Amino acid sequence: MAPADLHDQIAELAEIDSAHEGGGLTREVYTADYDRAVDYVSELMRDAGLEVRLDSAGNLFGAWKGAEPDQPRVLTGSHFDTTLNAGRFDGVVGVLGGIEAIRELKRRGYEARRTIEVLGFAGEEPRFGAGCIGSRAMMGTITRADLDEMRDRAGVSVAEAMRERGLDPDRLDAALLDPDTAHAFVELHIEQGAVLESTGNEIGVVEQIAAPHDLRVTLRGAAMHAGATPMRLRRDALVGAAEIVTELERLALASSSGTAVGTVGVLRVSPSAVNVIPGEVQMDIDVRDSDLDSRNHVIDALQAKLRETADRRGLELGVSTITRDEPADCSPLVVEAVRAACTELEVRALDMISGAYHDAMVLGSKIPIGMIFVPSVNGLSHHPDEYTAPPDIDRGVQVLAGTLARLAA
Ligand code: HGY
Ligand code: MN
Ligand code: MN
Repeated sequence: MAPADLHDQIAELAEIDSAHEGGGLTREVYTADYDRAVDYVSELMRDAGLEVRLDSAGNLFGAWKGAEPDQPRVLTGSHFDTTLNAGRFDGVVGVLGGIEAIRELKRRGYEARRTIEVLGFAGEEPRFGAGCIGSRAMMGTITRADLDEMRDRAGVSVAEAMRERGLDPDRLDAALLDPDTAHAFVELHIEQGAVLESTGNEIGVVEQIAAPHDLRVTLRGAAMHAGATPMRLRRDALVGAAEIVTELERLALASSSGTAVGTVGVLRVSPSAVNVIPGEVQMDIDVRDSDLDSRNHVIDALQAKLRETADRRGLELGVSTITRDEPADCSPLVVEAVRAACTELEVRALDMISGAYHDAMVLGSKIPIGMIFVPSVNGLSHHPDEYTAPPDIDRGVQVLAGTLARLAA
């Protein structure tokens, strides 16, 4: 029997860890460890009296039937897969907190008119390059072909990983959600930045979600002897890549919006031997902004720099798109419900933009969405020391319960 206390549940779920080298918590989607977490969260849902189901993409649903189950449902939830060497709160607070919010509404004797459903989306983190696999399956914005093309760092495709875990990628379409059956979606999540903490606010009322435009860049020069090859005869792929990395930082810092961010989080050098000039470099580049024009300008300028650098250094250039998403606006329907819940609870709330992407960004293309943020200590996330204090999580659950009560009335 899982513990009744939300914070004990978060601690127990954090024990389900693939222990990827480098510490922290790693629990990637479509793995045996992830399936153990699905079983654990399913048990929490059943203990809370929810009807549990798993769709063909591996999204987990826990439904609390309302008095009028044919009415469009209210959706809440988040994800419980992690990126590499991560923390225990990213996503988990929204799934376990969603279950806890329903427990809280039951404790209050609240009777929902609309069904309220808690989701655990599959594959929010980008194991396969792009994230939000489960929510994209629900919105019909990922294709069966994508499941063969998207591969992880070991070259395993989404389809292969799904089959490995007993899911059938050919049944992807069965995960499609009819947007007419959804009234709204609200996601409780840790902020993953330091805005709330640095401004002394307790709750973030998200108005917009920034979106990524990510590229996979390959620069191919000439692997030659590091000792016998004079500098002027080299076509060193890594020195070319270095120019791109610093230019990306300059472009993001100079962006017209002031909110663009650019990161080269993955750099693969081959042959990666101390006495061989790097012949080939692969970079995964992440550029985000809530302002689409500003993001497009950074991407266009970066592409021009890539071509100029490759030409000047005699390097072959390959560029492919990993993902290109639209920034999402939160819906007044949901934002107003969040604000009303904050007012009722007299919490210090701050309107803000999410720099991180979330499944809400994907659902926002067809369903009214909103997000509730709780503070991240020192703005740390995607890091073993990611931390949000229990009282802050409890406050987030209370705001979520108040929001759900308004949306499901
Ligand atoms: O990268 C993101 O924004 C999300 O945390 N996966
Ligand atoms: Mn994350
Ligand atoms: Mn997340």
